[in-house]
Amino acid sequence: MKQSSRPASPEYMPLTRRSLLQGASAAALLGLVPGGSTAHSLGRSDSAAARSADQSKSFPEKFLWGCATAGYQVEGNNATSDLWALEHIPNSMFKEPSGDACDHYHLYAQDIPMLADLGFNTYRFSIEWSRIEPEEGQFSNAELNHYRRVLAACKEHNLTTLVTYSHFAMPLWFAKKGAWQNSAAPDLYSRYCERATKHLGDMIDFASTFNEPDIPQLLNWLTLSGTEGGGMAQQFQQALVNARAALNAPDFASFFAANPQETRDGLLAAHAKGKVAMKSVRPNMPVGFNLAMSDDQPAPADSHVREKRADVYGPWLEAARKCDYLGVQVYSRSIVGKKDLPPPKEAELTEMGMEFYPECVEGVSRYAAKETGVPIYVTENGIATNDDTRRIEYYRRALAGLKRAIDDGVDVRGYVTWSLLDNWEWMMGYKPKFGIVAVDRATQKRTIKPSGAYLGNIARRNSL
Ligand code: BGC
Repeated sequence: MKQSSRPASPEYMPLTRRSLLQGASAAALLGLVPGGSTAHSLGRSDSAAARSADQSKSFPEKFLWGCATAGYQVEGNNATSDLWALEHIPNSMFKEPSGDACDHYHLYAQDIPMLADLGFNTYRFSIEWSRIEPEEGQFSNAELNHYRRVLAACKEHNLTTLVTYSHFAMPLWFAKKGAWQNSAAPDLYSRYCERATKHLGDMIDFASTFNEPDIPQLLNWLTLSGTEGGGMAQQFQQALVNARAALNAPDFASFFAANPQETRDGLLAAHAKGKVAMKSVRPNMPVGFNLAMSDDQPAPADSHVREKRADVYGPWLEAARKCDYLGVQVYSRSIVGKKDLPPPKEAELTEMGMEFYPECVEGVSRYAAKETGVPIYVTENGIATNDDTRRIEYYRRALAGLKRAIDDGVDVRGYVTWSLLDNWEWMMGYKPKFGIVAVDRATQKRTIKPSGAYLGNIARRNSL
């Protein structure tokens, strides 16, 4: 399958190797990139870079270094999705609509080489069920072919592909039938999994059934600045009531706005069936999922950390033991009392209101590996900030921690950052900046941040 021949129109200002090097040099000038001239390092061959690397700072051979995106957050105009409908009702739970997002749907053919040129060897992205099956039972070969072209672009640039089949968004028709609360959900989902794997599976290196299926439970414990534990969960219940009325769909449910317990049961069953469906087409394709985790630490008094872990992760860790791998996604720590406590008063907070705590990656990797015994991939980690120097510092400490865990024998095989692009951050709209690449939303011009060059160089060297 050939890569898309769609020419980049002038207003997209495609990145050239020169602009990549300029971005990287800016990082070097700021003294942010270790190892001397960044432009020079970017031009070196992988093997030469690897030889010169200090072995004690090296990561295991074939370690995956990547960036992640999710279709709904970057593609734009995903109008057959439940979230698109939710964005456009009165009192929407979303601060602003996603609109064109990063127009990655059309610009993937420049975004993917940019990622590879930065030094990464892996791309994690999602395929969108609502595009592939926009009406129940009606599959779109044109959309499946779109994702084949995306995968072909990855292969052309030697990227390992981590493909998430469901990253929160779902077809509107499926949501109107009750989403994961519908007893038919596992069958409907596994039919999609089978169809997508038939069309795309030969180019998928790692498949994931679900992104963060434990979120409904996690929200019950989570405290972001300004909300008590469970505060967000209550807001989502209200959103469900609003949505049903506004869409005149009494059974409507979404990933975020739904009954948490029924949603979990449905997701667990759909995961099991979806995995079987994928394997029936491609028995050797590694299948797992991506779990939202926090580095849970006990509060000095009255800690319910064990209860939290059993409630939020328990059934999913059990499911992970039967998988080929587990993707862990972590951004901070939680100090767990009866619920998660608010971040300590003196803590630096990220744009998401979370504590700046990069060591969470180490803690969670150790815990997840011990609990499951399967290979661990960090499939999301990063920070929302407008201060890119803090992002670099975050990566520095996060990776130092990950390296300690690996040196202690923890089986971690990859690190994928969230996110490649500044994207649409769900309820919070476009404000939080997670990207290593900035996006001008008027022109769709991409600008590599110093943190992109910093992390890309670590990836290229496979070494700190
Ligand atoms: C999700 C992403 C999200 C990120 C940052 C994860 O929960 O998988 O979609 O944008 O965290 O909030």
